[in-house]
Amino acid sequence: MKIVKSVCEVKEYVKELRRKEKNIGFVPTMGYLHAGHLSLVRESVRRCDYTVVSIFVNPTQFAPNEDFNKYPRNIQSDIEILEKEGVDLIFIPGDGEMYPEGYQTYVEVKNLQDRLCGGSRPNFFKGVCTIVLKLFNIVTPDISFFGQKDAQQVVILKKMVCDLNLDVKIEALPIIREKSGLALSSRNEYLDKKQKKAALCLSRSLIRAREMVETGEKNVALVLKSMKTEIESEPLARIDYIEIVDSESLQPVNQINDKMLIAVAVFINNVRLIDNIIV
Ligand code: PAJ
Repeated sequence: MKIVKSVCEVKEYVKELRRKEKNIGFVPTMGYLHAGHLSLVRESVRRCDYTVVSIFVNPTQFAPNEDFNKYPRNIQSDIEILEKEGVDLIFIPGDGEMYPEGYQTYVEVKNLQDRLCGGSRPNFFKGVCTIVLKLFNIVTPDISFFGQKDAQQVVILKKMVCDLNLDVKIEALPIIREKSGLALSSRNEYLDKKQKKAALCLSRSLIRAREMVETGEKNVALVLKSMKTEIESEPLARIDYIEIVDSESLQPVNQINDKMLIAVAVFINNVRLIDNIIV
C-alpha cells in the first residue's frame, strides 16, 4: 500500500493505472475511520481494480466556530486499518497541498446547498464540493463511494457531477449503525456514555416516523410532531432541524409519498449529530 502526501505523486500513480487500463474506486474521508467508512472501502475493494482512500480534514467545510481544530484524528491507526482492507493508495495531503497560499477557487451547487445541513452550516457544502471536485480531478476515479449517512452530501455531489459533466459514478451505501441504532460517526467520539444514550433519540425518532408512514399516515405535520415529541423527551437534546423532503429536490413535501428523505440534526450538549432514513 502506497502512502502519498503530494498531488503530483497521486497523479503519476493514477497515470500508470490508466496506462494499464485499470479502473479506480475512490473513498474520500476525513479519517478517524470507523465501520461506516470501512463499508465504503470494502465495496470499493470488492468492485474496483484499485482503491484510493483520501484522509483530509477539510478546513473549508468548517465554520470558524466549529470543531476543525479538535476534530478527532488518528492517522497511524487509520493507515493500519486501511492496509488490512487491501487499499492500494492512501492520499494524506497537508492543508497547504490542497489550499496553497493564494487559493481562490470554490464550487457551489446553488439551492440544494441552502437547505437542511446547509441551512445551519452556510458554507459547509461549498467546502465539501470544492474539496471533492479537487480530489476527483486528482484521483480521476471511475466510481466514488459515499455514505447515505450524509444524504444531502450525496444529492449535492450527484448534481455537481451531472452539472459539470464529470466522468465519475457516485455510489451511495447504507448507514452503518451501532447495535443500539446510533449511526456511526467520528463525532460520536465527543460523547460520554450518558450523552451516547441520549443520542439514541435521533434514530428513535426516525423509527417512529417510519412506523407511522408504513401504517399509512399521510399527514407530514403529524409525523414531524411525533418525531419532535420523541426528541424533546430527551433532556440533553436540542433540535437543529427535523425535515421531511423529496429525496432528490430536497424540497419539503406536503404529503407523504414514496421517495422521501426524513432527516434530523440534533445537538447533544454541543455535539451536532445527524441521521436520516429514506422512505
Ligand atoms: P467523513 O465524515 O469522514 O465521511 C466519509 C464518508 O463516510 C462519507 O461518504 C460519509 O457519508 C461516510 N460515512 C460516515 N459515517 C457513516 C456511516 N455510519 N455509515 C455509512 N457511511 C458513513 O463526509 C466527509 O467525511 C467529508 O464531507 C468528505 C466527503 C470527505 C469531504 O471532505
